[in-house]
Amino acid sequence: MAYKVLNNVSVKDTESNSLASLKTDMLVIVINKNTKSDSSFKELNKISKNYISKTISSHLKDVGSSILLPKIDGINAENLFLVNGLDSSTPTHKWLSAYQSIAKKGNSLKCKDISIMPGKVSPSQKDEFWLIETVAKTIESSVYIFSETKNKTATKPTVKKLTILTSGLSGSDLTKAKQSAKTGYAIGEGVNTAKYLGDLPANHCTPRIIEKKVKAMTKDFPNLKVKSFNEQQMQKMGMGSFLSVSRGSEEPARMMVIEYKGGKANEKPIALVGKGVTFDTGGVSIKPSPAMDEMKWDMCGAATVFGVMSTLARLNADVNVVGVMGCAENMCSSKATKPGDVVTSMSGQTIEILNTDAEGRLILADCLTFVGKYKPSYVIDMATLTGAVVVALGRHASGVMANDQHLAEKIIEAGEESGDRAWQLPLWDEHQSCTKTKYADLANIGGGREAGTIHAAAFLSKFTNDYKWAHIDIAATASYSTPVKAGTGRPVPLISQLLLSKKLK
Ligand code: BES
Ligand code: MN
Ligand code: ZN
Repeated sequence: MAYKVLNNVSVKDTESNSLASLKTDMLVIVINKNTKSDSSFKELNKISKNYISKTISSHLKDVGSSILLPKIDGINAENLFLVNGLDSSTPTHKWLSAYQSIAKKGNSLKCKDISIMPGKVSPSQKDEFWLIETVAKTIESSVYIFSETKNKTATKPTVKKLTILTSGLSGSDLTKAKQSAKTGYAIGEGVNTAKYLGDLPANHCTPRIIEKKVKAMTKDFPNLKVKSFNEQQMQKMGMGSFLSVSRGSEEPARMMVIEYKGGKANEKPIALVGKGVTFDTGGVSIKPSPAMDEMKWDMCGAATVFGVMSTLARLNADVNVVGVMGCAENMCSSKATKPGDVVTSMSGQTIEILNTDAEGRLILADCLTFVGKYKPSYVIDMATLTGAVVVALGRHASGVMANDQHLAEKIIEAGEESGDRAWQLPLWDEHQSCTKTKYADLANIGGGREAGTIHAAAFLSKFTNDYKWAHIDIAATASYSTPVKAGTGRPVPLISQLLLSKKLK
């Protein structure tokens, strides 16, 4: 099952395709300093008897402003949307939101297709191909509307087709532009996969339901191999830490492993590990009621693994990646794990569970030990792990902590490149003190109110001694609550960028 919204994304060059005769529900022209000298723009403007250029000078003075014009005689487009372009010094996030608004406009006008001429101005240090990839990615992921659990009031996306218009590209440049659009489209699809799984209510997205969806994915992508482990099998492997989380729930846990081998047979894989808590009540250390519904997004790390694997498979990327999704529901019941209980992890280390709401790290601990058997070149885990990361970094950056500085830097770079940003927090020896307790090898909480995000990472680091590892805390970035509650599909763009750029090799 694929979670694409658009059926088709294509690139056309305007030198061989007249803009006036282009049949489209919405033609979007991004105006910048070069637009007026563009031959296809000149043709349109002439047909409109300079109405377009006059509108631009009278109505589009502010950076980022836009105006929608109805059908003009002689021009085939049903709507003409003129958008004042950004200049190259404008930060990337504003470029992303400009294209988000274009996608939303397309849906609100009930357009079936949109055609966009992004122009040749891009943010500094990025080029036209970056822009084309970004347009494809952002339109695909922004025409997405979640409607699955509405019966009578569902609004569905109408936009099904995107054409990206370039000017003066031919030969290998046009081929490269088409490849960029394809890449962007596939990343957008991965983002939508992650958004969709996150947006599904917890009763529609249990570990067993995720398992079904992951298995179904191999029908779309025969180049993915899926293995699923049930509680009995995990018990056999000694995953007492992971299983302590699902103990209180009627819903059994599942660990899914997705293997993708697009690289050389002897190349070590990069491993992705995702926290997939389909609902986090906190367990016996129960959470307060307000906004507890947002804990349905506590599986966004696992959803990111799912989304990224679909992107790699769609693109036949030449990398080897293994993705692990640790899925469980954290509930309280008479069977549930109690504060003070001691469990044995797959690594052999015992853990005193002092707070059952610090459950993500218990799942990750065993998944991180498990993934070691793949002898991975790098391991990256992604988890909605701590509320503290919202306080430390705010909503715009995911938090990165690592035992390998090169890996941390590559993650941050990929964040800058994709506009899905991350920022590093230290992970020092001094932070390890918190994991000490009298009753077990480790405690699952420590550090009191100080640096909760780092202390969680310090706990994880006890399970990652055998390889180069980074942890990305996505509690602040995977979903948001205002103005509406929604999943973002982050960090699919960052991780896709990192893997596709092959800078980790
Ligand atoms: N899933 C939560 C973290 C979270 C909080 C995600 C807010 C998204 C938004 C995690 O399992 C949790 O409960 N963490 C605790 C850790 C604490 C008990 C040490 C927290 O952050 O309060
Ligand atoms: Mn929790
Ligand atoms: Zn949680």
